[in-house]
Parts: sequence; C-alpha cells; structure tokens
Amino acid sequence: MQSVLGIETSCDETGVAVYRAGAGIVAERVYTQADHAAYGGVVPELASRDHVRKLPGMIHQVLADAELAPADLDAVAYTAGPGLAGALLVGAATAVALAAAIGRPAIAVHHMEGHLLSPLLDVDAGLDFPFVALLVSGGHTMLVEVRAIGAYRLLGETLDDAAGEAFDKTARLLGLGFPGGPEVARLAATGDDQRYAFPRPMVNRPGLDFSFSGLKTHTRLLIGRVDPADHADVAAGFERAVVETLVIKCRRALQQTRLQRLVIAGGVSANRRLRAALDSALPGQVYYPPLALCTDNGAMIAHAGWHRRREGRCDGQISVRARWPLTELSVPTDLPT
Ligand code: KG4
Ligand code: ZN
Repeated sequence: MQSVLGIETSCDETGVAVYRAGAGIVAERVYTQADHAAYGGVVPELASRDHVRKLPGMIHQVLADAELAPADLDAVAYTAGPGLAGALLVGAATAVALAAAIGRPAIAVHHMEGHLLSPLLDVDAGLDFPFVALLVSGGHTMLVEVRAIGAYRLLGETLDDAAGEAFDKTARLLGLGFPGGPEVARLAATGDDQRYAFPRPMVNRPGLDFSFSGLKTHTRLLIGRVDPADHADVAAGFERAVVETLVIKCRRALQQTRLQRLVIAGGVSANRRLRAALDSALPGQVYYPPLALCTDNGAMIAHAGWHRRREGRCDGQISVRARWPLTELSVPTDLPT
C-alpha cells in the first residue's frame, strides 16, 4: 500500500494531504475558514458550506502537487469524528464517493487518533511505543496511555472546558480574535506572569483529570476589575496557570504509568510556553508534532489512515460520529486496568 489521501473537515479547517509509505507527507494543503472570527466561535452551518466550496478544488491541487492521478491512490482516509456533524459529512461523503469511483477503500479516521499519531510523522525524532499522550485541542483535553496503534487507555480528561476552549474564552474576554490561543500567547509574551495570582485547578487532588472552568471564572472576574492596559499581565498569568497545570499532570501520568515518553498533540501543543515548560520539566522525554501539524490538518488523517489501512481497515459507508470516545477505537487486551 503506497499512497493514501487524507481529508479533514471536522471543524473550521479544510485539510487535504497525501501520505506515501517510506516518503511521508508528499503534498499537503490546509485552508482555515475566516468567516467565523466575526462571531467569536465556529458557526457549524458556515463551516459545512465552506468545506463544500473548498474541498473539491483542494483535492485536485493536492493530487497535482503529489503528481498523482486519483487512480494512483491506494485508499482515501477521512475524519469520521468527533466534530461538527455537518462538517464531517462533507469530508465523509467526498471521501467515500472518491474511493468508490477509483475502486479503493475509504477509511474512517478518529480525529484525535490523527492528532495522537502525528508526532510519528517526524521520523527523525525517533518516537516509539509505548508513550503517554497529552491531547490538548479546542474540544478535548486528555491524557492517554498508548501501547500501540489502537491500544489506548484513558488516564484522565477534562471535567468541563478543554484547554483550547479556555484559551478561546479568555481571548474573547480580553477582546482578542479567534482562535484565541495564539492571540492570548502573543499578548502574554509582553506581560508579567507573576503580577496576578491564578489558581492551578485540581493539582492538589490525586488523579489525572483536569478542570478549567474555575480558572475561566477567576480570569473573567479579574478582567472585570483591571485596567485594559494590564491585560497583557492577565494573559501571561492565565497562560502560566494552564501550562503549569498541564505540566504537573503530565509528570504525574509518566510516574503512574512508569513510561518514559510523552507526546503532546492538538492545537494547544503549538503553544511555545507549554513546549518550553515541558522540555525543562521532562528533558529529552517530550515529543511534538511539527509546529505546522499541531492544529487541524489533512496530513495527520492521511497518516493515521495509512496505519489503519495497513491493518486491513475498510469503511464503505458514509457514517460520521459527532461524539466518539477515543477509547472505543479498540479494546486492548494487554493493558492493565
Ligand atoms: O486541534 P485544533 O486545531 O482543533 C480541535 O481539534 O479543536 O485545536 C484548536 C485549539 C483552539 O482552541 C486554539 O485556540 C488552540 O488550539 N491553540 C492554541 C495555540 N494555537 C492553537 N492554544 C494556545 N497556544 C497556541 N499557540
Ligand atoms: Zn483537532
């Protein structure tokens, strides 16, 4: 099996890429929808329509970039969930139709598995199983023990907001743009992260779950009483609180599992402060996707699809799941519970 086309449409990024065995990602394009910024969050109906508009042309372009005809593809992988149902359906219908037209299998990929496996795309990094993965995106915050492809055990997750969501909401409170993570990080870089005290949610409780809603409330109340000129200090203190909370839980997860390697993936893994803090807390143990592949993209879907296809996976029907627990992907038998 040589070349797999990957299609990502779970939210507001349209991503298309080709993964080729032995060569890695040979062509890739991502289109980030801009219309949502005016609404301060992703509008599902707008997202679906934009995917419809962009996807066919992007598939043509990516195949041309890869110097492939559709018939040269060995499989077509697509994000089947979790995500916005209408947006997912655009990618799923397109992928299944294309696969049927060329007589190849379509492969339904779990979006978070795409993120989780993306650090393997950097073969020079030398990542190998087993590892602990911290998945931090706009919709998810979880720690997963990864023994092999498909052998996932949930160690902990957020009880309320996801880390990226906390960044997005804080950005909105600070009057910054969407998506909020990069905007908060930019403002935080000019601020004093010690000026205001912030809670470190749940770090004193045992276990590996997260909660960010208390931090969000704290930040909202603080913003209500400080001068806008001090917003950079608020952003810096908030970012530091999120980063430190994540670092504490990651270190705890490695201790509990007695594993040596930590993978960080999902949009928030692009955060430079988080990367720096993890690198200094766990030197030589942390693996990231390439920066460009932290946020949603087609490359991670093509790559995960290639692994799943190698296992013989084939999904002929158009089916998507807006909610889809990662742990349902497989029931590993060799993991201690
Ligand atoms: O993985 P992703 O692109 O989409 C989902 O699957 O949700 O993650 C998007 C999330 C957004 O909440 C965004 O604000 C956050 O990742 N994000 C960041 C950074 N870049 C993206 N958060 C903090 N710092 C960043 N540099
Ligand atoms: Zn994502």
